[in-house]
Amino acid sequence: MSNRPALSVKEIQNTIREVGINPNYWYPVGWSDEFKESRVKPVTIWNQPIAVYRTEQGRLHALEDACLHKGVELHKGTVEQERIVCPYHGWEFDGEGRCQKIPYLPAGKKCPTARIRTFPVQERYQIVWVFPGDPALAQDVALPEVPEFDHPDWFMVKIPGHFMAHFSTCNENTMDVFHGHLHKGLQGWFDPELTQLDRSESKVFAEYQVSYKGRLAKLLGLAKSAEETYQRTVSIEYAYPHYQNHMGELSSLYLMRLPVGPNETRSFSLMFLKPGIPSRLWRPYKEVLARLLWRFVLKRFLDQDKEMIESEQATYDADPQAPRLEINPAIMALRRVIYEQFQQYRSMSEAMPEEQMTQKDSA
Ligand code: FES
Ligand SMILES: [Fe+2]
Repeated sequence: MSNRPALSVKEIQNTIREVGINPNYWYPVGWSDEFKESRVKPVTIWNQPIAVYRTEQGRLHALEDACLHKGVELHKGTVEQERIVCPYHGWEFDGEGRCQKIPYLPAGKKCPTARIRTFPVQERYQIVWVFPGDPALAQDVALPEVPEFDHPDWFMVKIPGHFMAHFSTCNENTMDVFHGHLHKGLQGWFDPELTQLDRSESKVFAEYQVSYKGRLAKLLGLAKSAEETYQRTVSIEYAYPHYQNHMGELSSLYLMRLPVGPNETRSFSLMFLKPGIPSRLWRPYKEVLARLLWRFVLKRFLDQDKEMIESEQATYDADPQAPRLEINPAIMALRRVIYEQFQQYRSMSEAMPEEQMTQKDSA
């Protein structure tokens, strides 16, 4: 842990939009079906460009997106069987970043032994994950557990999110149940109350009581009838850098966060529901129903959130020192975890030059 003095709530509030990530976690970089066989796709984790390619055999590799020769972006190249081929002079690299072939190498000469940096990559929950930190730590860092994923009773909806804002602003939106006001026109939740809050070095756990009423709550299985008001307990766990929210046995949301850069964030969420209709009626149509639910219901919520998050970022950019007043202790706890995770990483990497610490001015 850092031996820097702990910062006050106000000091954290004034710096939270500038902090970098702790890269020693697995970050989601895309849905599995976006990574086609024999294709390469560029992704970015906190300003680090990475070329992720899937081989002819279906294996995934993640290399720094710059050719060893002259730095051309490898994602502009092609995939030949197990190798990625740079588009400029045709140098070929394997999944370990080793140069395996230079088409015009004079006879008797060997390829250079220097390698392209590689990143641990894995695929789970229909998501591709990359570990941008110290590769030696990757196997000891767990992905979030998603027990609903393989369970036939749960109806799964995949939810993509893209926000032009710092990841802390996006994470605050997920922890902030008091913004039900924003969604009132969509039959969102109302009368929220924070009933429990715990924080540890890498986690925040909050419980809120909320109320639901209306046809949407009934459709999503959150209310038995559309006319009555139902009180529910929502538990929200932020386990850096991802979320899971549960509403008893009724619904779960796993939100996986990708900080792309200081002002750009993505999310890959899996929502699980037990709809208010028998499963035999929805199971044969689950793919198309999930897409419809996303497009015509959930996206409307997310679009409202996106507008608020990006508005918050815009006023911050215009005047970063303007005082803001947060009163939700769950948000303050969240900020402290985000801040301290970054500090923890900085302390571990004290020997690294400051410009590699991925601060805003390096964007
Ligand atoms: S820049 Fe990649 S082969 Fe020359
Ligand atoms: Fe929202």
